[in-house]
Amino acid sequence: MGKKTIIRNLPDLNKARVRNAQVNFEYDDIVPSSFLLEKLSGKNYFIRTYGCQANVRDEETMSGMLDLVGMNKVYDPKEADVIIVNTCAVRENAEDKVFGEIGNLKALKQKRNPLIMVCGCMVLQNHIVDKLLSIYKQVDVIFGTHNINALLDLIEEALMKNVHLVDVPSSSGDVHEIKPAKRLESFKAYINIMYGCNKFCTYCIVPYTRGMERSRKKEDILAEAQCLIDQGYKEITLLGQNVNSYGKDLYEDYTFANLLEDVAKLNIPRLRFTTSHPYDFSDAMIDTIAKYDNIMKFIHLPVQSGNDKILRLMNRRYNRQQYLDLVNRMKERIPNLALSTDIIVGFPNETYEEFKDTVTLVQEVGYDSAFTFIYSPRNGTPAAKMKDDVEYKEKNIRFRELTKALEVIIQEKSEKMVGQVFDVLVDSVSKKNKSVLSGYNENNKLINFKGDASLIGKIVKVKIIESHTYSLIGEIVENA
Ligand code: 5AD
Ligand code: SF4
Repeated sequence: MGKKTIIRNLPDLNKARVRNAQVNFEYDDIVPSSFLLEKLSGKNYFIRTYGCQANVRDEETMSGMLDLVGMNKVYDPKEADVIIVNTCAVRENAEDKVFGEIGNLKALKQKRNPLIMVCGCMVLQNHIVDKLLSIYKQVDVIFGTHNINALLDLIEEALMKNVHLVDVPSSSGDVHEIKPAKRLESFKAYINIMYGCNKFCTYCIVPYTRGMERSRKKEDILAEAQCLIDQGYKEITLLGQNVNSYGKDLYEDYTFANLLEDVAKLNIPRLRFTTSHPYDFSDAMIDTIAKYDNIMKFIHLPVQSGNDKILRLMNRRYNRQQYLDLVNRMKERIPNLALSTDIIVGFPNETYEEFKDTVTLVQEVGYDSAFTFIYSPRNGTPAAKMKDDVEYKEKNIRFRELTKALEVIIQEKSEKMVGQVFDVLVDSVSKKNKSVLSGYNENNKLINFKGDASLIGKIVKVKIIESHTYSLIGEIVENA
């Protein structure tokens, strides 16, 4: 295509590691230029988001900015004039999917010439930017997680100058309060309470791609929550890589437990939060969860491994017994609590016996759900430098063994739910059968039941009549 490439910033792992920087709070006033309004108003945009809720929230922020230009959101890239691929770097298979998607866009680029942009965690890695620049010439703009606020400027520059643009600053990050955002859903919403992560688990790329742990101001969070409640939202999830650290960088005596309580007091029908690192989970938090009916009795508490040596190598900052003690304190003080977790199988040099400790931990805790992953080396992280003598085939066998153990536990839990009645926030209509609705109960269990689509966004009472491992079948008892 022969377009010139402007490289403004390239990612730099050393800058991404900085943890003692000053955080700036920026209240960005996004005003689209007349150039963009003229050029893009009435045109279509498409965003494909991979990965976690932080990325989903970024999609909402970007959508809000593109709406300001008068663009329409479409769900088929073939109809789009601007395409954004919002990427995830947490494991290699996530990256493979992204390259597949970008590869597929080449034909579309030649046919309709949409502006193709790639952002998100993947591009914070140098080798990924190199690969995109050398092989994926259909990509026009590459930008990072720290300059989403500059989206419209980047589009304008790329279009006006007809260039490829690379602007991926690596930094500890600031707090950008960007308004407005276009929410993807009208009854449940996510609120970022903080950005970044300081934990530096040895396998994880997130502290490098998302920067330093930095909290939003409590006033801004509470105002956002109130605004959602005023709009009739039924469920809010407070979001952060490690929500339990909330406030430590900003306040002397205002913690996540205080924030959770303050949001609960605003009277949102359902309040959730994720993710919680076990190291920072305070007893005050347990008490707050127990105290408020509108805080859902569901805690996602990633354990990663049940073996002390592996936990140490992972830099998780707790051992098996401390984790189990925490779980026991939670179970004692919060009746009907459901727990979920993340587990990595096949960390470098994990022996079969060490792996078995994870299986026994899972049985001891009795999780209601779990996300399991095979370890994936991430360039630039300490674990990626560890020599690993466990074959991938063996890791796969362990992965399947763990999945089977989990299925038995989860199935047992599901069976106990049969005959009970739960409050379910109706989420959507089943793709397979239009008369079937699905939604989550307060323990985050997925329940399918017959009902009318008009109930979407409402909380209904559902009695469980049949259990499957990963979902349940119920019937509506009455509208709550
Ligand atoms: N390999 C496998 N799984 C990983 N996770 C994070 N980094 C890696 C990696 N390098 C998992 C952890 C984390 C979840 C979001 O992703 O279990 O909790
Ligand atoms: Fe990654 Fe650990 Fe931070 Fe979670 S707590 S984002 S696993 S470094």
